[in-house]
Amino acid sequence: MITHPDNTDARDEYAVMGNPIAHSKSPRIHSLFAQQTGEPIHYRAILVEVGKLPEAVADFVAGGGKGLNITVPFKRDAWELVDERSRRAERAGAVNTIKIEPGRLFGDNTDGVGLVNDLRHNLQIPLQDRRILLMGAGGAARGVLAPLLEQEPALLVIANRTPERAVDLAAEFADLGTVQGCGFDALENLQFDVLINATAASLQGDLPPLPDGIVAEGACAYDMMYGAKPTAFMKWAQWQGAAKVSDGLGMLVEQAAESFYIWRGVRPETRPVIAQLREELADG
Ligand code: ATR
Repeated sequence: MITHPDNTDARDEYAVMGNPIAHSKSPRIHSLFAQQTGEPIHYRAILVEVGKLPEAVADFVAGGGKGLNITVPFKRDAWELVDERSRRAERAGAVNTIKIEPGRLFGDNTDGVGLVNDLRHNLQIPLQDRRILLMGAGGAARGVLAPLLEQEPALLVIANRTPERAVDLAAEFADLGTVQGCGFDALENLQFDVLINATAASLQGDLPPLPDGIVAEGACAYDMMYGAKPTAFMKWAQWQGAAKVSDGLGMLVEQAAESFYIWRGVRPETRPVIAQLREELADG
């Protein structure tokens, strides 16, 4: 039998869809996972026109694709598109992982568990009974709230530039734990053990308007953004005496590992992949 060269690749197809997508690290991460585990997968990045996610997903499914990651700005669209959602995706109001099953799209959200795994396992930061500050009240903050509250912190405060958004978000998650919303001014005289930046400020090289003195002794500061250099928030936290400061590269790899597990039933080791990506980031 003569087979077309394209059909000789027996690997299962996966992809990440977003806009922009050219700089996504997901193809690199999943190819490192595939190498490490021996799972026969091929993973690529697909640029999707805003408003065209359903068509792009349908094409991918028709081509025999097995799973997708969904990134900015389509996580809400994906939430609406899937046939069934995990509990954590339901709560996050966003889907970043789709498992393509016969006649059905299953949507999950691995961002929150990615953050919690990076904090707890890679950075060795306990969350139970700790005072957590979550900055931002957009999609990024919403996506991690339930998994953070599941860790039973003593208190979780959401602070946002537009205070009402933080208050509303806190009210929505109040059934899961002690959570309050406020503006940045209201943080004066409070102290936190874990400070997490989920605002888009770092993207613009900005710093949320944080008062001095809110970083408790031994505290950890975490920016969900990552890059070759520390963000303005990371520098501020260091200056304020934080014991540990981290960017979000570990969260990115951890959320990818959870997606890989959902698709393949195999959990890749994340540490060597984080180390590899860190090296590649530094090299530019
Ligand atoms: P995402 O999905 O990344 O969370 P988003 O829904 O647009 O994006 O939310 C962006 C978040 O970053 C918001 O909490 C926003 O604050 P507002 O709700 O007041 O707009 C916050 N943000 C953006 N730029 C900021 C800045 N320069 N300083 C502080 N907060 C900022």
